Amino acid sequence: MILLQFTGLSGSGKTTLAENVRHLLIENGYKAEIIDGDVYRKTICKDLGFSKEDRCENVKRLFDVGKNFVASNTIVLMSVINPYENLRNELRMNEFVRTIFLDCSIDNLIRRDPKGLYKKALLPDGDINKIKNFTGISDVFETPLKADLVLKTDSETVSFSTNKLYNFIIDNITEEV
Ligand code: ADX
Repeated sequence: MILLQFTGLSGSGKTTLAENVRHLLIENGYKAEIIDGDVYRKTICKDLGFSKEDRCENVKRLFDVGKNFVASNTIVLMSVINPYENLRNELRMNEFVRTIFLDCSIDNLIRRDPKGLYKKALLPDGDINKIKNFTGISDVFETPLKADLVLKTDSETVSFSTNKLYNFIIDNITEEV
């Protein structure tokens, strides 16, 4: 089976693409699960913040959950920012892992800002509503150098990226058979 580790900034389309592809996979008879950072940060990762140490711990815990799904023949879509190259490379040493980079320019994300988080991250220092250490604004996002698939989510349509990802998954499952 296969585990897709997404990597991309907040708002780059991780959740949308994961949901669309899961739907397509299930329609076609596959088992597929999404492991979403925003969801697990309310449960098994709720003790974690956004320091480097905590982000790495977050990704590692989600990967452990993912491995269990892989063992039960389920396609796993791990939808997290996953900002560090070293940790991504550590995970991709597992032969069932593929790295999917959702590449979207920061200017576009600031313009779209569906959750209003960039606006809060860009507030002046001292403002009580300011989000600190926000990825892409005031915290690091290391551009992946070894992605297996890059989806340009600011120029491709959602259905184009969805199909590209779906075909990638099917090709990569077939290779392993
Ligand atoms: S990761 O860095 O540990 O991989 P994860 O994907 O779980 O991040 O969580 C990111 C989500 O947390 C964002 O989509 C956003 O909704 C929320 N968030 C809150 N504070 C921050 C922050 N400082 N940096 C990035 N995301 C944040």
